[in-house]
This record gives sequence, structure tokens and C-alpha cells, in this order.
Amino acid sequence: MARSAAVPASQAVAGPRRAGTVQFERVSKSYRSAGGEVRALDEVSLDIPAGAIFGIIGRSGAGKSTLLRTVNRLEEPSAGRVLVDGEPIAALGTDGLVALRRRIGMIFQHFNLLSAKTVRQNVALPLTVAGVEKREIARRVDEAMRLVGLESKAETYPSRLSGGQKQRVGIARALVSDPEILLCDEATSALDPETTLSILGLLRDINRRLGLTIILITHEMSVIREICSDVVVLEAGKVAEAGPVWQVFGAPEHPATRALLAPLTRDVPDELAARLRPHPAPGGKAILRVSYSGRTPPDLAALVAATGGPVHLLQAGVERIQGHAVGRVLIAAEGTEAEARLRAIGQDVEGIGYVAADD
Ligand SMILES: Nc1ncnc2c1ncn2[C@@H]1O[C@H](COP(=O)(O)OP(=O)(O)OP(=O)(O)O)[C@@H](O)[C@H]1O
Ligand SMILES: [Mg+2]
Repeated sequence: MARSAAVPASQAVAGPRRAGTVQFERVSKSYRSAGGEVRALDEVSLDIPAGAIFGIIGRSGAGKSTLLRTVNRLEEPSAGRVLVDGEPIAALGTDGLVALRRRIGMIFQHFNLLSAKTVRQNVALPLTVAGVEKREIARRVDEAMRLVGLESKAETYPSRLSGGQKQRVGIARALVSDPEILLCDEATSALDPETTLSILGLLRDINRRLGLTIILITHEMSVIREICSDVVVLEAGKVAEAGPVWQVFGAPEHPATRALLAPLTRDVPDELAARLRPHPAPGGKAILRVSYSGRTPPDLAALVAATGGPVHLLQAGVERIQGHAVGRVLIAAEGTEAEARLRAIGQDVEGIGYVAADD
């Protein structure tokens, strides 16, 4: 792995609270099954700073849920250590584990609400179980319901709620114990795109207002791009790469990352690909892909000046992620030296072929 898995604390979103760090130290997990041993996690080391929104991505079966579930000891590592706020959690006794789980909320794809209980009773559940005094429960439930914008649905039953509202109940229930870490396992996978955006907005808001660390698993790369500060890519139980989202998404190094990002990356249009030739023709144009993954957005005048001739913009997809310009532009430039000239001014450029003069 070329990049360090450590994420500097400066990347974290500032919040009022600094608790909520998670460290994985060479965490491995093996399962015995009929077919032999499955190595779900293989020496995973990562630092998650307090206040981060940390994404976990990877193909199905890569070990994402297993990793997330080691944070509140729903899974016990076979080797290695998990530390929460610097404390190794494997050493906790029963009381310590109960206290740890109160500091860590969790939300799921299928909401896991109790259908025979009202929204208010569902949200109150963790406090009821913990034996918290009734008036205090009422106060905290009201606060959590306000936070997720569901005050008017308190006496409703879950079956009468939309998917987005159900997930808001799930989030309120996770927040009612005032946790410092929120674990989300595909929390938006069952929701339509618009509802997904509203839930992501809520998570971002909670992260900022409460300074809570959020660790989330998703198969939707747009979710990571939308709200995460940092991301880890797991592949067959190992860390493929990790770092700030703008860096990992802007210049993915591992084939697994590239495969996951393929739906977000516009490729060369088929019609152009069909006309590409490997060698230049007199009067033809070079087709170049210029990639951006830094603070400087594309400077079109610089492209024109460096190539010394007309530049045709064929396709462009550049986005802002955490203040960085990330993406690619596809250009056609005359002559055969454009690629070398652009490289000479420090552009990340790749020649992908040539088209004939009359194309
Ligand atoms: N209880 C278990 N017993 C045996 N094998 C398991 C168990 N839980 C997970 N595994 C195996 O461990 C590997 C990682 O599983 P995990 O659920 O962490 O993957 P994932 O990345 O969350 O996948 P998905 O995206 O499909 O949810 C898989 O090969 C899975 O089959
Ligand atoms: Mg999973």
C-alpha cells in the first residue's frame, strides 16, 4: 500500500467534543466454515480521528460489516486490537462493555424498529433498558426527535412511516444515549435518491452539531463523495488504500478502488473510442486525458498556451471534493507534441490515441 492509512486529525470536521477516536491495530478475523477458513479481516490497521465521517467501501464480502462490528464488539477479532478513545476494548468486562455500547450508536439498512411500539417507545428503548428515570427519558427522547425532525410522529407506529422516516427513528434511537460514535451499515441502501440525500444531510448536521464520529459503510460512491472526510477501501479483508476522500477518489491507486469508482468515472465515449488510432496522421489530432486531483482547478488558458494551438474540449467531469478539484477532462489538440508539452508544465496527462484530420 503506497499511502499511509493514518488520517491526520486535521482532516476531521471540527466539533465541540474530541472523544470518539477508533484505532484498529493489525485486526484479523477468521471464520471457520464448512469450506474451510474464511479470513474476513487480514491485519487491518487504521486510525479514525474524533469527529471524522469515515467511509468504508469495498466489494461484497470484503469484510466491511465485520470491521464495523468489531468497534462495539459485536464481533471479536481473532488477532489484533481495537481501541476506542485509546482504550483497548477487548479488556472490558461485562459492565465496561455495556458502557462502551452506550457510547456507540448503530443504524442499519432495515431500520430494526419494533413494530408493536410507537416511534416514541422505539426511540426510548435504549434508555428504558438502561433503567433511566422516566422524566429524563421523556426529555432526551423529545430532544432526539427534534434533532431528526420527527416531533409530529411520536405516537405513530413504524408501519405508518416512509423509509426515510423509519431511518430517522433509527437515528434518533441511536442518538438518544448521547453516543460519541455512530456506526452506519448501509443506512441509506433501502432509500430512494432524494431520501438518501436528506438522511445524509441529517448525518452531516449531527456530525457538525454534536461532534460525533461517524463510521459508515455504503455501496454508493456518491454517498462517500457527498459526506465523508476519509475513506478506506477494503479488498479481501485487507486495506487496499485509505486517506482523505479527495485524494483516494481523485487518484485511486488500487484496482479495487478503480473498479468501485467506475460508475462515477466517465470513460471515453464509444463513438470516439471507435475512431481512435494508435499513431498520428498528418493534420490529425491527439486525444488527451488530463486528470485533476489537487487544489488547482483546470486552467484552460494554460492548456491552450502549453499546446500552442487550438484545444477542443470533448468531455469534462471535474468536481469539488473538500476544496479540491477532482476529475478528468478529455481534449483534442493539434500536432503530436501536445502531450509532452502539457507534461512539461506539470499536467497529469495521458495520451489515449489519435484521430484523423477529417474526423
Ligand atoms: N458469521 C460468519 N460465519 C462465517 N463467515 C462469515 C460470517 N460473517 C461473515 N463471514 C464471511 O466473512 C467475509 C466478510 O463478510 P462481511 O459481512 O464483513 O462482508 P461485507 O464487506 O460487509 O459484504 P457486503 O457488502 O455483502 O455486506 C465474507 O466472506 C463472509 O462470507
Ligand atoms: Mg456488509
